[in-house]
Amino acid sequence: CMWVKSHRQKKGPPGPFPWPFVGNAMQLGQLPHLTFCKMAQKYGNVFKIRLGSLDIVVLNGDSTIREALVKHSSAFAGRPNFTSFKIISGGKSMAFGGYSDIWKAHKRIAHSTLRAFSTINTETTKQFEQHVISEVQDLIQVFLRLSSGGQYFYPYHECTVAIANIICALCFGKRYSHDDQEFKALVGRNDKFGQTVGAGSLVDIMPWLQAFPNPVRSLYQSFKDLNREFFDFVKSKVSQHRETYNPEITRDMSDAFIGLIDHSPGAGLSKDYVEGTVTDLLGAGQDTNSTALTWIILLLIKYPHIQQKLQDEIDRVVDQDRLPTSGDKTQLPYVQAFIYETLRFSSFVPITIPHSTTSNVTIDGFYIPKNTVVFVNQWSVNHDKTTWNNPHIFDPERFLDEHGQVDKDLTSGVMIFSVGRRRCIGDQLSMLQMFLFTTIMLHQCSFQSNPKEQLTMDCINGLSLKPLPFTVNVRPRGNKTREVS
Ligand code: HEM
Repeated sequence: CMWVKSHRQKKGPPGPFPWPFVGNAMQLGQLPHLTFCKMAQKYGNVFKIRLGSLDIVVLNGDSTIREALVKHSSAFAGRPNFTSFKIISGGKSMAFGGYSDIWKAHKRIAHSTLRAFSTINTETTKQFEQHVISEVQDLIQVFLRLSSGGQYFYPYHECTVAIANIICALCFGKRYSHDDQEFKALVGRNDKFGQTVGAGSLVDIMPWLQAFPNPVRSLYQSFKDLNREFFDFVKSKVSQHRETYNPEITRDMSDAFIGLIDHSPGAGLSKDYVEGTVTDLLGAGQDTNSTALTWIILLLIKYPHIQQKLQDEIDRVVDQDRLPTSGDKTQLPYVQAFIYETLRFSSFVPITIPHSTTSNVTIDGFYIPKNTVVFVNQWSVNHDKTTWNNPHIFDPERFLDEHGQVDKDLTSGVMIFSVGRRRCIGDQLSMLQMFLFTTIMLHQCSFQSNPKEQLTMDCINGLSLKPLPFTVNVRPRGNKTREVS
């Protein structure tokens, strides 16, 4: 009787039958989040799969995910001990590092510094906004140049440069030209990064694949190369900062981290955490936001009537003789609804960075032992039929109430920055950035799809979902901006 009781208490989650060697790896498909949604229908919101020889628990649905990540926050705050994670940010990554007291101090420093340089108060918000505005203006000029003579172009790479510049300006006080090939090459390789650390990646799960010449091995090699190159770039910038460091003047976030880490031994972080933190912020900040911007442009050209409606709203609120600012936000509910709908519909970070359990824990009645790898399926939250009507349809209006105002209960139901201890620290900065890019771009230009192209919503998977390449033509609106020839 005692045995039955303890046995029942330790009932593990159900799941599909795992095949020898590969487990369920071959069942994941190109877009694992969709496979997980199907499996959740069959097995419930907590289920177990096996990848290689590793048992993985997959969490689905808003209430289950919150029960785990918020209610049992420290039990779910770990990261798996994957080899690939140790290569990131010189082995001193906060985003990919395990849960510990050092990690807590590290996250606190990273979060408070990022906020201090972006959205902590109206003064810093204004300064940050200035960076963003000049990047959008520059991006618009590049778009118009690439569109001259009615040409169409793929916008992703230019978006990456603009977004990377914003975070570079915060970290190093320096931006780069769109013509700087070296910088473009450095920031333009997010896909390989995401494909290696994303939830469907086989690199860590079946490490023996690296022993054979195959796509996994070459992906892993280029992952190592790009991480080293990226880290070396940051190292040289940080060492220039150390050489010219003056405690009286904090020029940028690198100086702030040097002050908080090198010059405050009490924090318990060795000096190389400065480089680790800066590399994390540059990496996390640019891939996600340039993907967001590419989705925004795709959806604008896919739904011209929505683009028109956005422009109508912006025109009503912002005159021709000034640019939109964050102060206009409350008067632009349709723009806000459009951004939330872009995040919900694309769910472009469909599965968070993998978590792992730091202790034994029970969720929805299922026992999960310590050190279990956990995948968190954010897509399942954003496409849950019980929360959203026709979740597969792109419809910004779903977020507006009968007075045309943004319904906060609904917007808070979108899950893209995760929840709990591992929640993204760039959420506010990113929301502000997306708002400014969208409003300024639409205040100044119109976006047209290429009539020779069939636009699809299909994606390339990685840590983030990117739309398949598409081309666009950008035209200035009225006499607001002159086309650059
Ligand atoms: C982590 C989403 C922008 C810094 C994450 C995670 C997600 C996410 C899903 C993983 C959370 C988890 O594992 O549970 C996004 C999205 C963004 C964005 C959708 C843009 C729209 C940024 C920016 C920065 C940033 C701009 C910094 C400049 C980080 C860091 C972590 C993180 C440092 C690791 C947190 C931890 O492990 O505790 N983000 N992010 N993110 N993000 Fe973001």
